[in-house]
Amino acid sequence: MSIMVPRFKYLMVDGEIVPYEEAKIHILTPAVRYGATAFEGIRAYWNKGQRQLYLFRCMEHFERLLQSAKLMGMENCSYQPQSLIEISIDLLRKNSVKEDVHIRPCLFVSGEGSIQASGPVSFGIGIAPAGTVLPKGGWKQKPFRMAVSSWRRIEDNSMPPRIKVAANYQNARMALLQAEYDGYDGVVLLDAMGHVTEEARACVFLVIDGVLVTPQVSNDILDSITRASVIKIFTDVYGIDVVERDVDRTELYLADEIFLAGTALGITPVGLVDRITVSDAIPGRITTDVDKVYSDVARGSVDSYAEWRTPVYN
Ligand SMILES: Cc1ncc(COP(=O)(O)O)c(C=O)c1O
Repeated sequence: MSIMVPRFKYLMVDGEIVPYEEAKIHILTPAVRYGATAFEGIRAYWNKGQRQLYLFRCMEHFERLLQSAKLMGMENCSYQPQSLIEISIDLLRKNSVKEDVHIRPCLFVSGEGSIQASGPVSFGIGIAPAGTVLPKGGWKQKPFRMAVSSWRRIEDNSMPPRIKVAANYQNARMALLQAEYDGYDGVVLLDAMGHVTEEARACVFLVIDGVLVTPQVSNDILDSITRASVIKIFTDVYGIDVVERDVDRTELYLADEIFLAGTALGITPVGLVDRITVSDAIPGRITTDVDKVYSDVARGSVDSYAEWRTPVYN
């Protein structure tokens, strides 16, 4: 097996910082065979002026990781969110990270257990340059084209989308593969009732008559941290509540603006849904405002929402 040259030399495995090429797992682990893995994606933003790296809402991400592990029956998982933050900071410092990155923690069932094995639980963290999840030039340079998938979203009584576990992503993957094959950049999935859930990797927001509308967490979506941040920012900036409700497919075609919100995608304006143009295929006013505030807050370019940022360097 060839090992690619990593951008960052070190990872963390079970509390130990190890060289990239030493992080290996056995092919018989329940994580590999059955997808028994809970994971997170966390962004750290480099602020050049301050020479500081900020982790964005890392406490909330690690709390969600432990919730995901709990629901996946990972009984031997003894980590606390605060210790996971400290481990992440150590790893970022060890790698001397001074750029935007995507931090990738995972908890998984290791050993050689059967499908219902609940342990032993291993923990790892890898770091990737933030740019690797976005196409060259960024989607904001050209309209983001989104398809409505013919695949249905998994639901709470089968594979709960509320948590972030590897197995859930096979549903998103099938939809994304189909959409990319058909020439789209992204894909939104509907639930069994035909209501909008989320994009394969992000939440969906619609602007309708100046009001921001988004599906509820109970509409089979990930309990997203970016979504919660957007709701707070929009309400604070505009003084209007965000409406969380069932969203019909047709509303996607008729909305004044649509944007996606997620850790990896940030705020991504959507220019086309199923070949129907949205907002003249350019980012609308509310999308642009939300993107500006969100980006400034995440990077620490403004003082507000300081409680969402964890500085990495002293
Ligand atoms: C399916 C899905 N929905 C929504 C999101 C956005 O969630 P968050 O803002 O917590 O990253 C993500 C990304 O993590 C995702 O994979």
